[in-house]
Amino acid sequence: MKVLISKSKISLRVKALAKQIRADYKGEVPVFIGILKGSFMFMSDLIRNYGLDCELDFMALASYGGSKRGSGIIRLIKDININIRKRHVLIVEDIIDTGTTSNYIREYLILRSPKSVEFVVLLDKADARKVDVDIKYIGFEIPNKYVVGYGLDCAEKYRNLPYICVYED
Ligand code: IMP
Ligand code: MG
Repeated sequence: MKVLISKSKISLRVKALAKQIRADYKGEVPVFIGILKGSFMFMSDLIRNYGLDCELDFMALASYGGSKRGSGIIRLIKDININIRKRHVLIVEDIIDTGTTSNYIREYLILRSPKSVEFVVLLDKADARKVDVDIKYIGFEIPNKYVVGYGLDCAEKYRNLPYICVYED
């Protein structure tokens, strides 16, 4: 498989994103909400680089069908435990493809009356978008190809790769 984004490029970009978030949330204690499972590695590196007081939680969702591409029907598998009322929330996602999942998450979390909700997304496949998503922090824009590694899977494999590859059979 061909490496699309190396370990060192990811590391530099994650550091820069953390720095930007630190500046934007000065004096606040944001709640980072990672979307499982794809975001686990990014989340871990992001909050280590963030370095200031914060809280974290995770949510898990599944789209029906189990295909590579989201089918559009989303089911909540694991909810957050932290009370986000009047809190600044940062949703941490591995990748935004069609945008369906992200929109579902934002609408779902907004019902709990947070002070703000923003997205921190490692990879943006802008060409695959079907529904608009307002993403404040983007790691990398990538072409409309299936990628794996650094948390992202193909049938649950390759999540442990420390870099991002374009998937090939
Ligand atoms: P969306 O709802 O179409 O934006 O898709 C979101 C989810 O689909 C992501 O959180 C990933 O789990 C999965 N996904 C989309 N594209 C890829 C990819 O290229 N590699 C691995 N997973 C992907
Ligand atoms: Mg997935």
